[in-house]
Amino acid sequence: MLKIAVAGTGYVGLVAGVGFAEIGHRVLCVDIDETKVEMMQSGISPIYEKDLEELMQKNYAAGRINYTTDYEAAYKEADAVFIGVGTPENEDGSANLSYIATVARQIAENVEKDCLIVVKSTVPVGTNDKVEQFINDFLVNDVRVEVASNPEFLAQGSAVHDTLYAKRIIIGTESEWAENLLKKIYEPFNLPIVAVNRRSAEMIKYASNDFLALKISYMNDIANLCELVGADVQDVAQGMSFDDRIGSKFLNAGIGYGGSCFPKDTKALDYLATQNGYELKTIKAAIDVNKDQKTLLYKKASNRLITFNGLKVAVLGLTFKPGTDDLREAPSLENVPLLLAQGADIYAFDPVGKENFAKLYPEGTNGKGTINYVENAEEALKDANVCFIFTEWGNIKAVRPKVFKELMRTPLVYDGRNIHGIDAMEQAGVEYYSIGRAP
Ligand code: UGA
Repeated sequence: MLKIAVAGTGYVGLVAGVGFAEIGHRVLCVDIDETKVEMMQSGISPIYEKDLEELMQKNYAAGRINYTTDYEAAYKEADAVFIGVGTPENEDGSANLSYIATVARQIAENVEKDCLIVVKSTVPVGTNDKVEQFINDFLVNDVRVEVASNPEFLAQGSAVHDTLYAKRIIIGTESEWAENLLKKIYEPFNLPIVAVNRRSAEMIKYASNDFLALKISYMNDIANLCELVGADVQDVAQGMSFDDRIGSKFLNAGIGYGGSCFPKDTKALDYLATQNGYELKTIKAAIDVNKDQKTLLYKKASNRLITFNGLKVAVLGLTFKPGTDDLREAPSLENVPLLLAQGADIYAFDPVGKENFAKLYPEGTNGKGTINYVENAEEALKDANVCFIFTEWGNIKAVRPKVFKELMRTPLVYDGRNIHGIDAMEQAGVEYYSIGRAP
């Protein structure tokens, strides 16, 4: 079993670290935040992710995983260092690589034996070459250091499962030594390994994410047309899904894709193309469609209601998708400010996203409007004039059509996740608008 250091304890780093510990490696997770490190040592995960805490506690008790701020010691000992720090989006759409550079420099100054540096963070094609050059430029000791690309394909909400039962492991290397070492690390998972060169590995990550984003935007585009011509996008998607060249997943039209990956990775690939003198027309279109999709229902409701001023607005769901407390690029973040600017009185419910949202929009008066955080969907709906559904959490999906009718002052519902049947809502007496299905 190998000694592995993991730089960064966000979704990618922490879950990867726990995964490696689970198959028997000795893992040391490095983070600069002392409080976070202490928290993790006591078995508390800094992120909400199914099964994660349980595995953190189990592997910590077994001595296979630990957490530290002492990167010097961690990198000195490691056979491999996995980099899982963030690569946020710069204003121009490019990826910000400053966290990667900081870690690369720390590694260069501390490694004392041959060490493979594995970049898990999503980075533009060519970055691994630069990281290797950068590390070698700053290397203090006479040891072999190489960089490999090993992109991560986990989805939030199912991150642990996606790591332990990944569909494929992509490894991008430039030497047999690096390839063999990575294969040795992953062997116990017993998963399909695809070995390619570094640039192809980097590209596989973007091409995969952007393909999925494209698929969603395509379905949203079709949905908007369906509505105009009297077709139902859910029936259309179902009909399409029987063709296994199309597949049945990621065909759900809705209020646009969010999260920390698709919005960032589409823009980064578009930027990379532009930098190389190429126009990536498909991805540009996906970005465009997604932008309009996020406020589609708000615009529809604005036309119907003239103004939101003084209206009680129920907002069901704040996170970008269920199973996570992450708000990044969530539709709620586009729509809530628009509602507040008009003087809406918002009652918001989300099973785990309320606290994060309240950091951005504290309870009480916000500009012209107010926001209140409530404990369940029913409380949000009570006496509401209008309801927006932004996230398909189980306990939001469970609200039956008649409940909207019974609780709301005016049962007017805008559903960004196509949760309810058009007929069922009509029979219950609810005025109901969704995506790609004519009311
Ligand atoms: C995504 C990918 O699914 C992962 O494979 C990838 O590893 C990850 O990005 C990453 O690069 O780290 P994630 O952002 O966690 O994972 O979430 P998804 O489940 O893919 O959902 C992304 C967005 O698309 C959500 O806003 C979701 O509501 C939306 N979506 C998804 C749709 O609108 N329709 C669909 O049919 C599916």
